[in-house]
Amino acid sequence: MATTEKLPVAETALISFSVNGYPVDVAASGTRRLSRVLRDDLGLTGTKVGCDAGDCGACTVLLNGDPVCSCLVAAGQVAGCEITTVEGLAKRSPLHGRLQQSFLSHGAAQCGACTPGMLVAATALLEKNQSPTENEVMDAIGGVLCRCTGYRKIISATVEAGAAVAYDPLPAAGAAVGTRLVRLDGKKKVDGTEIFGADETPVDALAVRVIRCPHHRARFQFGELDRFVADHPGLLLVLTAKDVPGIDCYGVIPRYADQPVFAHREARFRGEAVAAVVGERDALEALDLAEFPVSWEELPALETIDEALDAGAPRMHGHREENVLVRGRVACGDVEKALAEADIVVESEYETGFIEHAYIEPEAGFARRVGDRIEIQACTQSPYMDRDDIAKILGIAPDKVRIIPTAVGGGFGAKLDLSVQPFIALAAWKLERPVRMVYSRTESIISTTKRHPARMRLRAGATRDGKITALDFAADFNTGAYSSWGPTVAGRVPVHASGPYRVPNYRALTRAVHTNVVPAGAFRGFGVPQAAIAQEQLYDDLADRVGMDRLEFRILNALDNESPTVTGQVLGEGVGIRACFESLRARWQTARTETAVFNARADGPLRRGVGVAGMWYGCGNTSLPNPSTVRIGLKRNGRIALHQGAVDIGQGSNTIVTQICADAVMAPVAQFDLVSGDTSISPDCGKTSASRQTFVTGKAAHMAGTKLRAEILKLAGACDCAQIEFSDKGLTIVEKGTSCVLSLEDLPLDHHGYVITCEATFDPPTSPLNENGQGSPYAVFGFGAHMAEVEVDVDLGTVRVLKVTAAHDVGRAINPTLIEGQIEGGVAQGLGMALMEEFFPGRGENLHDYLIPSAGDIPSIESILIEDPSSIGPFGAKGIGEQAVIPTAPAILNAIHDAVGVRIQKIPATPDRVRAAILAKANGGAHG
Ligand code: FES
Ligand code: FES
Repeated sequence: MATTEKLPVAETALISFSVNGYPVDVAASGTRRLSRVLRDDLGLTGTKVGCDAGDCGACTVLLNGDPVCSCLVAAGQVAGCEITTVEGLAKRSPLHGRLQQSFLSHGAAQCGACTPGMLVAATALLEKNQSPTENEVMDAIGGVLCRCTGYRKIISATVEAGAAVAYDPLPAAGAAVGTRLVRLDGKKKVDGTEIFGADETPVDALAVRVIRCPHHRARFQFGELDRFVADHPGLLLVLTAKDVPGIDCYGVIPRYADQPVFAHREARFRGEAVAAVVGERDALEALDLAEFPVSWEELPALETIDEALDAGAPRMHGHREENVLVRGRVACGDVEKALAEADIVVESEYETGFIEHAYIEPEAGFARRVGDRIEIQACTQSPYMDRDDIAKILGIAPDKVRIIPTAVGGGFGAKLDLSVQPFIALAAWKLERPVRMVYSRTESIISTTKRHPARMRLRAGATRDGKITALDFAADFNTGAYSSWGPTVAGRVPVHASGPYRVPNYRALTRAVHTNVVPAGAFRGFGVPQAAIAQEQLYDDLADRVGMDRLEFRILNALDNESPTVTGQVLGEGVGIRACFESLRARWQTARTETAVFNARADGPLRRGVGVAGMWYGCGNTSLPNPSTVRIGLKRNGRIALHQGAVDIGQGSNTIVTQICADAVMAPVAQFDLVSGDTSISPDCGKTSASRQTFVTGKAAHMAGTKLRAEILKLAGACDCAQIEFSDKGLTIVEKGTSCVLSLEDLPLDHHGYVITCEATFDPPTSPLNENGQGSPYAVFGFGAHMAEVEVDVDLGTVRVLKVTAAHDVGRAINPTLIEGQIEGGVAQGLGMALMEEFFPGRGENLHDYLIPSAGDIPSIESILIEDPSSIGPFGAKGIGEQAVIPTAPAILNAIHDAVGVRIQKIPATPDRVRAAILAKANGGAHG
């Protein structure tokens, strides 16, 4: 299977045009993509490439003032034309400075991968119309996809770009936490200088292309590989499993590691790598991979959970019986007895499909060998985990591997697993030349992890007065060919499937089941969003049967500080779920009334509905060590180096961790120099996942900052109550009305190169779970509740979401703008999950067929921030990243039921499924 698209070979010609006001002459084939000319020939890497197919809009530039997808424009077409890229917008128009400013102050750029395309598209609009409406902005940016922001802040930033926009200056000492500090790494995202995985290429870099299995399962045999290399000038090497010098087996959870870099004789999923071809870049681009000498024997594949569990099914991994990777269990009370005695019992089944992460930046990076070390610069969510796996694969010590994370253009969980890294590392190690690789969109989709499809069955019981007495939950997750994060999903879901409610009798059983499809892994929520879809719809059914208002039913049953969770944990503080629900009460009542009036008057096909759903989510690993270490160093010029290795994938950890650390030191944010998560210079802050960075790394930063403050005061011989005034010239210590200057210039430097270095490690206190899943799996939970208002067309089955109101208990809002950004982005992903997103392995492996929400799909979103602090988190903060996505889909699905009285049991609720359910109900069926 060819996984990198090849342009037709054509004659090179000199093409003259202007870029950002400068004339350029480029020797290129007339059919070469303009995006390639800009990025590769002219070094204008601000223009991003997300799909090479006109689907994502990341490559948008202005062609004679009009926005175009530069990946679809042939270089020959721009002869004599004027091109403007993101790098040239500021020069083109003073409008742009205001637009950039507006993007920064609104928090409109998260990861920043879509930002250049967004800015270009918005500029094109503003040049014609300086006071656009929201709808005009939505039309203008409709062709540019963003997976992070939920578009709302991009829309507001563009609408308000004409106003005098000035963002707050950096906060003073002690005043950073709680402010809407502009993202500290934001400027690079809006001026096109941010470096993502594909944005740097060492001059003599070779390229790699991977040969991947075209079948769900196949045995394979290679032909004459040496001959193939010899017959193709510019090719240097073919890599296969026998070229892996270390252990050809990796995985994010070492105990379950099972994935080879290259399959051995049999490939277990379509898209699995079997070999890689390495060579000069031009030669590889011209190579037709269909010529690669490999023959395939397609084998019967296990594509579904049922096929894999069948008693006669072959075992995909010999030691895993029944093709079950792992089982999860949490149980308390006596669920059967409680259900038998319940006044009311309801039951249901729900099914969800694969979901693609669809971040705008495909995986990319390069590796180079430096003596007996390997250096890898790539996009990743987990530099230290990458380091350890690459060391294993190469058979070298971990300290011989250096991982340099680039900016990450969205990850959402999938960039926790290795992608390009093993291929570029092996090739660079062997050939001793830099090697670069950029996944095509198709390659990214077919080979990287997905959200687990789930099949869930559940029963719940309640008393006549609405108290939940029991929940019985069972779920199977299709975990694909290799383990990835399957054990985490199977382990986390049973803890969370009760929802944020008191459920005294409970049983949740899960299985992660291997099949011959692409591995399922981490995706924002680790299975909890799927479980919430089932449990929150069932609780609505229970409330209806009891005859209670659905929101009041949840408030009645909400966990509080004293009630034990289903694992027997009593949190004792910071259980803000009731406050989340109560914050919705007035809006709920108004929306219910307005909806009833609308429906009573409706004489066409439109019906409205309102739905609500709750969530809880444990921050960090489940009952496992989970440490982050932060190092800070005082420099001789009084500035502070903050080594925080939490990779910022757009969520804002660079900014939030600095805010926390600054207030711990009581120093101004402006005094800090951020040092990245490069494994050779920053300690391990763990992976960016499980909503742990604000909580865990933030706490480590708080501890390190507190220590630094104490050390400085000790050095000055001052008391704890003294103030430290920072400036680039040194420190002034103010104590009891007198001040003295603490000169740092002549002080010795330690082995880190600082006058004072402080390091702190925080590992959240948890306890192991027993055989019934009882214990304290997380130190802190985040809580939330969403309310969705929808409009359903009963004739077409289409659903339009009118508004989502999202209340979240974040403990302490360290940076409200960034938190709102997480919520809005989570709502957009939840909306996609509810209504449109489903990936079918082997079909629609692109962003044309796989639909994610675009600007026009996004409703108004109102965020409500509740602060019920945790004494463990930094300044009381909890996580928000995963939490934000969980309640949206069930709230929308409950709203659909409220509107038209049908339950959509197979998610997403696409128009055909909604329409079929409405027809079934009309014909006497109960469900869709
Ligand atoms: S890269 Fe051009 S539209 Fe996606
Ligand atoms: S900020 Fe838009 S894709 Fe990340």
